[in-house]
Amino acid sequence: AETRYYKWDVKYELKSPDCYRKLVITINGMFPGPTITAEEGDTIVVQVTNSLLTENTAIHWHGIRQIGSPWSDGTEGVTQCPIVPGDTFEYKFVVDRAGTYLYHAHYGMQREEGLNGMIQVKPARGQREPFVYDFDRSIMLTDWYHKTALEHAIGLSSVPFVWVGEPQSLLIQGRGRYNCSSVSIASDPDVCNATRSDCSPFVLTVVPGKIYRLRIASLTSLSALNFEIEGHNMTVVETDGHFVEPFEVKNLFIYSGETYSVLVTANQDPSRNYWATTNVVSRRPGTPTGRAIFNYYPNHPEKNPPTVPTTGPMWNDSTSRVAQSLAIKAREGFIETPPATSDRVIMLLNTQNRVNGFTKWAVNNVSFTLPTTPYLVALKENRLRNKLHHVFDQSPPPTGYDWLNYDIHVNQSNVNATTSNGIYRLKFNTTIDIVLQNANMINPNNSETHPWHLHGHDFWVLGHGVGKFDPFNDPKKYNLVNPILKNTVPLHPYGWTAIRFQANNPGVWLFHCHIDSHFAMGMGIVFEEGIERVGKLPTSIMGCGLTKRLITP
Ligand code: C2O
Ligand code: CU
Repeated sequence: AETRYYKWDVKYELKSPDCYRKLVITINGMFPGPTITAEEGDTIVVQVTNSLLTENTAIHWHGIRQIGSPWSDGTEGVTQCPIVPGDTFEYKFVVDRAGTYLYHAHYGMQREEGLNGMIQVKPARGQREPFVYDFDRSIMLTDWYHKTALEHAIGLSSVPFVWVGEPQSLLIQGRGRYNCSSVSIASDPDVCNATRSDCSPFVLTVVPGKIYRLRIASLTSLSALNFEIEGHNMTVVETDGHFVEPFEVKNLFIYSGETYSVLVTANQDPSRNYWATTNVVSRRPGTPTGRAIFNYYPNHPEKNPPTVPTTGPMWNDSTSRVAQSLAIKAREGFIETPPATSDRVIMLLNTQNRVNGFTKWAVNNVSFTLPTTPYLVALKENRLRNKLHHVFDQSPPPTGYDWLNYDIHVNQSNVNATTSNGIYRLKFNTTIDIVLQNANMINPNNSETHPWHLHGHDFWVLGHGVGKFDPFNDPKKYNLVNPILKNTVPLHPYGWTAIRFQANNPGVWLFHCHIDSHFAMGMGIVFEEGIERVGKLPTSIMGCGLTKRLITP
């Protein structure tokens, strides 16, 4: 195994990813950021210099479990203080499993300004993957707004509430196309310029007959997506770093925080190009189709396909999305079976609430807020322990809700909703079941899809169901034979999702909806496990809140 060193300069630049000029966060000038390519077992060292001038930052390595390095998780408020402008922070962690992972900003809603990229971990030498392909290619899917993340964050936390709305564009590998004729350009044609090369569509060139492994990832702020390549089926073989029992799809549904590898054979009429498209699903779309060109060599890469870009399945067809979720199983020969039983079950009701006039998302009626002193330091450092009550709420949040009487299909007033930064403390090495229960939002007849992401672990996906989870009967239907391990899983509208994980990674870990605005509105919780086993914390994660007293003599 090797150690791979990276030096990243993170800054704002004016770019036009969808033809519209806007500040974009780049890494060493790149957007999306550079792909980290490594081999299983390698150590990655990234020195991040914050050149954002007036903004803090922190970078999360999404899907990397950080075993033995919980302080490198990059979760501002949970595992570290923010990196202030001008500072350099070193992340150091082991990529212990082959697969496709991500990285992105984890500071406020900064992720939507573009700080994101992929981590590709190849199998260790001598190890083989259970499928073959000729070429390995990556496709990052994001949604794109013209307003800043700061304006969004302030709108969401204002009374009256200002919703972020649907994104202006969908970007494929950082490229989209906004309709510039809808912008009043006044005297500066560069505000929106459709002829700019930064917004020409992403081109994926293929050689007829060859097999491509496409690593498809989503780091959208809001949107659930469908991805398809006109005329080509895709075979799903990996998700979130785990091999999938192969199945074919025409449309791949992908939620923020998920990664998939699919195999595609360039086996169609080679005399033309094809559209690769992405469309919003689950919310009523207000964003045009995102397009890329699937270019058959030697056709000209910029030659538009002769067809109309595909618009995907109906946005509100949740049945086929649930069906895809249910189709994902661990691959024969690579199954890690879960413990047969769990030690603790936590039921989490997802609701939209009003708390003191603010619009929030809540879990069991508690809307999450981050403390100013990171939990990891607050829990680990003896010198802060007697001050704990200053740092975060010591009463643990509820582990369930009144499931028998709660009608998930209508809007409930949930009058007891509160905000809190209390956490769930898990007994080390125990097995935890989480049942996520979806419900109606504040608006009638509406329930959204929430992609839930767990830091520090992979979890087994035991089941998805429609309607209200029945704690007596539904567990009998859990898949304990070949459940997939993942780090991000959708909770479908009016449905439930059950997962199981082992609390065996000492640290403090966020579990949250990966929709940026939902997390900003409180849709998350925090787990602590084995804090006494965490090694000596680096002082580089300190410097904010009460941690200041630990580093100032
Ligand atoms: Cu990819 Cu806490 O997020
Ligand atoms: Cu959500």
